[in-house]
Amino acid sequence: MKLPSRLIPFVFLAALGCQSHSTAPAPTAADPTPLKEAARGLFRVGAAINAGQITGRDAVGSRLLATHFDSITAENNMKWMHIGPAPDRFNFDLPDRFVALGERLGVQVIGHTLVWHSQAPKWLFHDADGSEVSREELLRRLRHHVATVVGRYKGRVAGWDVVNEAIRDEDGTLRTDKPWYRILGEEAVFAAFEAAHQADPDAELYYNDYGLENPVKRAGVLKLIAAIRARGLRIDGIGSQGHYGLDWPLLSEIDASLVDFAQAGLKVMYTELDVTVLPRPENYFGAEISKIYKLAPELDPYRAGMPADKQAELAKRYADIFAIFAKHRESITRVTFWGIHDRMSWLNNWPIRGRTDYALLFDRAGEPKPAFHAVVEALQAAQKP
Ligand code: G3I
Repeated sequence: MKLPSRLIPFVFLAALGCQSHSTAPAPTAADPTPLKEAARGLFRVGAAINAGQITGRDAVGSRLLATHFDSITAENNMKWMHIGPAPDRFNFDLPDRFVALGERLGVQVIGHTLVWHSQAPKWLFHDADGSEVSREELLRRLRHHVATVVGRYKGRVAGWDVVNEAIRDEDGTLRTDKPWYRILGEEAVFAAFEAAHQADPDAELYYNDYGLENPVKRAGVLKLIAAIRARGLRIDGIGSQGHYGLDWPLLSEIDASLVDFAQAGLKVMYTELDVTVLPRPENYFGAEISKIYKLAPELDPYRAGMPADKQAELAKRYADIFAIFAKHRESITRVTFWGIHDRMSWLNNWPIRGRTDYALLFDRAGEPKPAFHAVVEALQAAQKP
């Protein structure tokens, strides 16, 4: 058999003893400790899920979900583009099944997300004639959407990521380059929190963002949260997404962010935790891996499997992160992974489509990785008096 030349380096690596995801070890007799049990008394452990797990089509993911997690977040299905694809047309099929699944499993159900500049449908910011929507009309659409979606799941969704990623990385100011904030300014945020509370007075309401380990961005987010509170609106906590790498952010930066959140009197949730092991070159953002393969195969280095030393590095990184989380157990109420197993991780397709990342605790066959055991050990160590 003649191999395509671009595959040869990976076949070679596999022959050197990389763990291939196609030859995962057979399940062991002793079931591993469920994550949610290891974390009991510290915080909930959640997972973001998609249609595969909602419908049960992903049998591996569904089994892991039922065993290890006590909170679920809709990774994509409640985003405006999907749940509200056209004016006054709502698509509740998967969201309804998502909420019903949470109830069947007896786990906490988290809604994600009501106002976000990304994944907003095209019609949202325009009138029928194609002109930009007026401030009044956009506010009306926002209130109608939030009332409809939150109202539908009243008493069933425990908490909502009401506003997602409203603040710029560079200077902590509002993203006024995006239609929500160019047209409405901070009012978009206030209106969303107000409408969510009106639609379900018992639901918890969160502001969710990434990169909060950067002090400049964090200060901007805390200022926005202070403004929400100054308006007399309900906000229960901050969602720190936790999309991390092996060596960024620094552990001291994660620690410092948690100190600031506690000082602000906020409940904290790590809402989208994962750790990429892949390089992230700025100039390849959005590129198609197959197109750049010959140029830079090092951009997808573990296609045939991740070597043991890298597995160990990932495990150590996860253990360190969870040791900090455990230290701040008084503030943290939930740690949610952005996916269950590596096969379903968004990182396989971002910032370059079609790569092979290893960002989660379970491998592509659903087997616990060294990182899983490291997290359980870190949690168990934190339980000891
Ligand atoms: O389902 C289609 C598929 O039919 C099509 O062939 C394929 C072609 O690109 O696209 C598929 O849809 C993709 C979808 O994920 C499901 O995989 C979209 O293109 C892609 O844009 C979408 O990405 C999601 C992204 O948000 C944008 O909504 C990721 O799965 C999801 O993990 C990611 O999650 C966000 C959080 O909501 C907010 N914080 C950051 C986080 C990561 O970006």
